[in-house]
Amino acid sequence: MTSTRIIAATLAASCALPAYANGELNLYSSRHYDTDERLYSEFTEATGITINRIEGNADELLTRMEAEGANSPADILLTVDTSRLERAKEMGLLQSVDSDVLESRLPSYLQDADNQWFGFSQRARIFFYDKTDVENPPLDYVSLADPAYEGQLCHRSSSNVYSQTLLAAVIENHGEEAAKNWAQGVVNNFARAPQGGDTDQLRGLVSGECDVSISNTYYFARALRKDVDGLDKEALENIGWVFPAQGAEGAHMNLSGGGVAANAPNRDNAVLFLEYLASDQAQEYFSAGNDEYPGVPGVALSPSVAALGFFQTDNVDLSKVAKNVPTAQRIFNEVGWD
Ligand SMILES: [Fe+2]
Repeated sequence: MTSTRIIAATLAASCALPAYANGELNLYSSRHYDTDERLYSEFTEATGITINRIEGNADELLTRMEAEGANSPADILLTVDTSRLERAKEMGLLQSVDSDVLESRLPSYLQDADNQWFGFSQRARIFFYDKTDVENPPLDYVSLADPAYEGQLCHRSSSNVYSQTLLAAVIENHGEEAAKNWAQGVVNNFARAPQGGDTDQLRGLVSGECDVSISNTYYFARALRKDVDGLDKEALENIGWVFPAQGAEGAHMNLSGGGVAANAPNRDNAVLFLEYLASDQAQEYFSAGNDEYPGVPGVALSPSVAALGFFQTDNVDLSKVAKNVPTAQRIFNEVGWD
């Protein structure tokens, strides 16, 4: 009787203890996708680590981490776009991580040179066009400035990070002067003042306002996979797409990633979380849940993502691209890209 009780007590302790000992993880995230919920719950299930989420837009989170300083409870910063990850690094908000798992799983271009941030998923910024109106869609980024497309293009505003990183990449690939001429040409070709999110650029094709729109792949793949307002199956039939600059620099990629916060109180848990994001399970979920391209090579694409086809990516150094963002912002002002 006595021994049974002791065993039961030991079991209870050993069941309860790991969860307690493993503790918590404070995640600052600006990823805006409901489907990420599953990423977090599966991590908690596998490790017993509770995730406390603080969500906000990226700039708010960076400002908050900076203000919190050494007392910041942040363990992880998760955000979208290299320029933001670079900014967090430059602000001293991240720390280097030495992980054999991350080192071996992620390609080198998805790892910051100092291992302060890592990219876990990718999206291509490509062209979508109205097949019923456009016979010869542009085939590369440079061609967007061609007067042949006057009054046809739709893109979002220059305050958006996707616009900034795209122009920053054009600067890196073609030089500042060519990039400015390009931006001017694109502005001349706008069908309407820049507005809305990427899905709104696709809706513009359906409404007839736009003939050629630029959007990240995952917004279109999402509409292939499930109902998106204004993008029903019939409408999608009339939308064609082009992976730009094939045979040249390749399709512009932006990535989603994260790093361990400089003053992470739960540093070991934070590293474990990043390693989890590089696991097959989490990587498949980036594709199946949010229609992104996995960062880890060889991980299966979800059907909606695979439907877009294979393409050549622009492998330009994204850290260098991020450093061009201030120049890109100046050019946007100079050419009147709102
Ligand atoms: Fe997005």
